[in-house]
Amino acid sequence: MGRRVFIPIDPLMQSSIEQIRHQADEEVLSVHDASALEAFRVRYLARKGSIAALFDSLKALPAEQRPGIGKSVNELRVHVQSLFDKASASLVVAAPSASTIDVTLPGRHAFLGSRHPLTQTLDEIKRIFGGMGFTIADGPELEDDYHNFGALNFPPNHPARDMQDTFFVRPNVLLRTHTSPVQIRLMEQQQPPLRAIMPGKVYRNEAINARSYCMFHQVEGLCVDTGITFSDLKGTLVAFIKEFYGSSLKYRFRPTFFPFTEPSADIYITCFLCHGKGCRVCKQFGWLEILGCGMVHPNVFKSVGYDSEKFTGYAFGMGIERIAMLRYGIDDIRLFFENDIRFLEQFT
Ligand code: DAH
Repeated sequence: MGRRVFIPIDPLMQSSIEQIRHQADEEVLSVHDASALEAFRVRYLARKGSIAALFDSLKALPAEQRPGIGKSVNELRVHVQSLFDKASASLVVAAPSASTIDVTLPGRHAFLGSRHPLTQTLDEIKRIFGGMGFTIADGPELEDDYHNFGALNFPPNHPARDMQDTFFVRPNVLLRTHTSPVQIRLMEQQQPPLRAIMPGKVYRNEAINARSYCMFHQVEGLCVDTGITFSDLKGTLVAFIKEFYGSSLKYRFRPTFFPFTEPSADIYITCFLCHGKGCRVCKQFGWLEILGCGMVHPNVFKSVGYDSEKFTGYAFGMGIERIAMLRYGIDDIRLFFENDIRFLEQFT
């Protein structure tokens, strides 16, 4: 029986093994991307790495020490390799590859927005008048007294100027109460012939309730040329009504008064709800007023410097909220401005 011999392990070698293990344990903590991982591999595990160097230096040891130290170096190699494998696996999880997408899952539903019902109504009005050769014009919401009232032939003491209806910002500056001042601005800039619609916001100092709001939208219309008559007005507006509401609908013109037109008329259509019998929507009248119109008053032409002996024209104005309410059967004007998604998504 051989005697067991104590073989001392080279203390220098042993301390380099421990040092490398300690370093690798530390260094792996800061491996957060592929290039750091590769640097780690080159440093410890590659053919010219520090572990391979330890294996090389085994050769220089006395033969009896080699197996013991060799075993320690081998354990170090296994340990560092497992550090590398773990770091590599955690990088793969962090960066999702194509294989992590489950193509058998049902797709996610994309929610489509919708245009606001007022925008839809206005777009339809623009489309119809655009088809009849009308251009679109724009004007300021902050107006002066002259464009909103004076140039439109409102007498100086007309009740519409009253603080009850008009939001005055300063004595002469106000939020326009209708889109008619855009007619004036257009005629100040252009000579006839002209044919335009002018959509926009208007403001009135009214109590807010289901029927009225302090801000709403109108579309103004204007056509000026030589030889324009009331028949042109009628033909154009009836064509619009038939296209917008359907050709089977009944309509009628009823004389009324506006300072800026003479003669003036309101256009009515049969109530879509009761078909003329009388109901809550038409206030038992059987008819619904949809727009005001008339032949441009000579005083209006005078204020913009047009020769009223040479030119004639017609104008009209309609409230978009009112038209949209009738069209969609909406019974409260406030719904347009509350941005309640449950209301808006009904108009997709
Ligand atoms: N500006 C009028 C209003 O706000 C609407 C209107 C009526 C406009 C007749 C016109 C028109 O151009 O000819 O009530």
